[in-house]
Amino acid sequence: MCPNFGDKAEKSFYSKDMELTGKLAEAFSTQVTLELTAATVYRQLAIEMDVMSLPGMAGWFRAQAGEEIEHAEKFMTHMTDRSAHPKIGEQPSPELNIKSVADAFAASLAHEQKVSEAIRELYRLAQTEGDIDSLPLLHWFIDEQIEEEATVSEILDRVKLTGNDGSGLLRLDAELGSRPSDD
Ligand SMILES: [Fe+2]
Repeated sequence: MCPNFGDKAEKSFYSKDMELTGKLAEAFSTQVTLELTAATVYRQLAIEMDVMSLPGMAGWFRAQAGEEIEHAEKFMTHMTDRSAHPKIGEQPSPELNIKSVADAFAASLAHEQKVSEAIRELYRLAQTEGDIDSLPLLHWFIDEQIEEEATVSEILDRVKLTGNDGSGLLRLDAELGSRPSDD
């Protein structure tokens, strides 16, 4: 027999199925906080590059910060769409000790690796909880993290290749400064 969608009890039964609840909702809020923290880390790295008079790299890090805010929004939208209530937690100030361009990209890579592991952990939890509805979103983030880590890792390798060659760094600065705003 077909379900009666006009019936209130049936309706609430179906909507309850897509609600994001309990442990998973809490873990999604933690992820929102982590994405916002990543934005702060990137903003600080942009400042470090400005201080070193490398405006292209500063712009690149600022664009990364913008992407992290979008990531946080993606999680928040998923949560509110599923009747959950995102709560932004405390964000520790970024502990960065940047003395060179290589330090900045190494810090960026370390942070991306931390975020990747957090996404994998969310995926494992979604599987344990049987939450099928969050898997497409988490797949998107898994792909995104692979791309992010690969990009940052490649830049870090190129920074290391320049060594102390100022002209090499300036060329890389110009190249990163030409990053399209929606990259
Ligand atoms: Fe992110």
